[in-house]
Amino acid sequence: MSEVPLLLRETSGEGRATDRGPRILAIESSCDETAAAVVEGGWVRSSVVASQVSVHAAFGGIVPELASRHHLGAIVPVIEEALAQAGCGALSGFDAIAVTEGPGLVGALLIGVQAARGLAAATGLPLFGVHHMEGHVFSAMLGDDALAARELEPHLALLVSGGHTELCEVTRVGRYRLIGATRDDAVGEAFDKVAKMIGLPYPGGPAIDALAAEGDPRALSFPRSMLGDPTSLEFSFSGLKTAVLVHLETRGAPRSRQELADLCASFQAAVVDVLVAKARRARARLGLGRVHVVGGVSANRGLRAAMAAAAEEDGFVFCAPPLRYCGDNAAMIGGAAAARIVAGAAPSVFVHTSKAIDDPRVLLP
Ligand code: KG4
Ligand code: ZN
Repeated sequence: MSEVPLLLRETSGEGRATDRGPRILAIESSCDETAAAVVEGGWVRSSVVASQVSVHAAFGGIVPELASRHHLGAIVPVIEEALAQAGCGALSGFDAIAVTEGPGLVGALLIGVQAARGLAAATGLPLFGVHHMEGHVFSAMLGDDALAARELEPHLALLVSGGHTELCEVTRVGRYRLIGATRDDAVGEAFDKVAKMIGLPYPGGPAIDALAAEGDPRALSFPRSMLGDPTSLEFSFSGLKTAVLVHLETRGAPRSRQELADLCASFQAAVVDVLVAKARRARARLGLGRVHVVGGVSANRGLRAAMAAAAEEDGFVFCAPPLRYCGDNAAMIGGAAAARIVAGAAPSVFVHTSKAIDDPRVLLP
């Protein structure tokens, strides 16, 4: 397999398409966003995301059957819009199609995969299935009109989303090693559930993040789970969730906006302290010079600020994607697929709901 730097180093949108790596139509439908993008290597030419947040907000969480139905309605217009925004009337001049193959909700994944299969059959283009979390890893590398694409360098990735909380050693594309994970809830899930307990809308992460900025993180003392054992790289958030519930049962619901903000800030501080401490510990143990935080929760302002401060103190490079690529999108799937193609991966798709990022299916020789 080649060690070609997969993301080319231009800093503006001027370069010739052929300088930039394979041109790919990428599709993502693993959860509650229907997304399509046109990418060339690590460069994004268009990225369209149709969010279903308003559909699921009424239920306080994702309803899988509704997610599938809305993907079905959105998938064709979203793909057409991504092609139009990239100035591509059709799929001529493309090298491949990429699609999220898992993990995710099976009914949701199948809508994107079947659309991708149809397009691949109609055009003869090769079809590459991409692991959703590998996509998030590549979200930190993307370039577009406003941003230079980054080269993938060895790093520690802290993967934080609605379904995942993991520490992963990334050596190069297709070379991933999970070194820590949550034993129970994912961190995004904890944000969403705590938000629901205190009457904030779904998804809870952005709502808690916004209120936390107005609150005192020392107002309430919530547990920092699994920090005591200096060897552990595992996470647990169910105890923290229970602590918030017990607090609400004993002290009652917040009686003012300030009390609500203090609760949000204190909960967020407990989450951030654990994430940052474990990431620091893992980075030091592996001797890596970079830490990337990716996934929906990487948008969290408290987490970004604390990681930036830790990077300064410990002397490592901290990187998080621009906010538009933190949540689910197809540009990251295209970026990962481009890297896989350059590295010699064979086209294939296998829909799955729970394979890890270091599954043999994802790893490259
Ligand atoms: O990566 P993502 O968009 O979808 C999954 O793959 O799960 O992550 C969604 C998660 C949700 O739990 C949402 O509440 C959380 O990311 N999230 C945040 C923030 N923005 C989104 N959590 C904390 N702070 C935020 N600003
Ligand atoms: Zn995601």
